[in-house]
Amino acid sequence: MSILLTGISELTTNDPERTETSGADPGDSLLGIVRDAALVVSGAGPDAVVEWVGLEADAPAADERRDLGGRAVIPGFVDSHTHLVFAGDRSAEFAARMTGTPYDGGGIAVSVAATRAASDDELRALVAARVAEMRAQGTTTVEIKSGYGLTVDDELRSLRIAREFTSHTTFLGAHVVPREHAADRTAYLELVIGPMLDAVVAAGGAALAESIDVFCEPHSAHAFDGDEARAVLEAGRAAGLALRVHGNQLGHGPGVQLACELGARSVDHCTYLSDADVDALVAARGTTVATLLPGVEFSTRSPYPDARHLIDAGVDVALASDCNPGTCYSSSMPFAIALAVREMGMTPAEALHAATAVSARSLGLDRRLAPGQPAELAVIDGPSHLHLAYRAGVPIVRALDL
Ligand code: NIG
Ligand code: FE
Repeated sequence: MSILLTGISELTTNDPERTETSGADPGDSLLGIVRDAALVVSGAGPDAVVEWVGLEADAPAADERRDLGGRAVIPGFVDSHTHLVFAGDRSAEFAARMTGTPYDGGGIAVSVAATRAASDDELRALVAARVAEMRAQGTTTVEIKSGYGLTVDDELRSLRIAREFTSHTTFLGAHVVPREHAADRTAYLELVIGPMLDAVVAAGGAALAESIDVFCEPHSAHAFDGDEARAVLEAGRAAGLALRVHGNQLGHGPGVQLACELGARSVDHCTYLSDADVDALVAARGTTVATLLPGVEFSTRSPYPDARHLIDAGVDVALASDCNPGTCYSSSMPFAIALAVREMGMTPAEALHAATAVSARSLGLDRRLAPGQPAELAVIDGPSHLHLAYRAGVPIVRALDL
């Protein structure tokens, strides 16, 4: 069963090989844009595959034809950094921040208590609602971290529930030192890299957790310093997991350099960077992606990272939501794109590329719309990708159900 999609005013393929690309607008070649395009897809649901991409005038026949009425089509957003497995409410913490209370990671304990107290079914329903909310805003691939369990059983439970929704799961036992271990953080670190990681491996290893992550933040008493983060990442690597790092969120620190040195797939936040950090990211290009999370700066009243400087220096820059109950309870990739364009100096094309192709790369995925690739598509109620940031806050983009 094949479907021919027509009436596509602008198709973003993320394929730099597209010969239809005019190159007149630098964004066109970055995004591999085809205007007046058509697509043929075969299969249904998550198994749908792109069969053909090109100008509508050249389109082959298919079993079915669906006209999209002059809308733009893009690859579905890849949200490569989320913490969707949590219960409880921390909106009061957000309100306090808006009147000057700084974020220090202390509120994570509130979510840990609520998550531990929730039943499996309650957690599953919360994650399902968040994933549906994301799909309704154009996200077709999501990474989900654990990190609000922080016991062996609660971390395994969080990963198992996350795995029901995505294969891109990340073990974040090293989110913070939980309250019951506050007097002996070394004991908690040993638990994470010993019995907790062993349990993840025994329960499936990479089949349960694709990656390991650590909140490396010397500016938070709750998070981990550079030596502790190195221990977590080296243990994760020895267990066969890919590496991700929360780094340089609250101030300058060792996270970025550690991630680059150890070949992490991504280092996320990158809010406070020294020249040496930028140099390390440039040298790590092709291996380590800098994932920017502007919803966090919005929601914590922090300065935005200088994406323009990073891109001009040659760093691979991705965008993600960081959807979590503390620093950003927004699951919206269009919101992240709008902030990136308005506040971080990214062009609309760079922001879309970062939210799809580069974010995908940080998960080891290829997100080009080309024959043989998964047909993970989103449709914009507008003629071009420029509308994503231009119509900020308006629900104009959604995943396309096939
Ligand atoms: O990515 N910084 C660490 N972790 C999350 C926030 C977690 C929370 O406050 O609940 C983040 O910002
Ligand atoms: Fe995060």
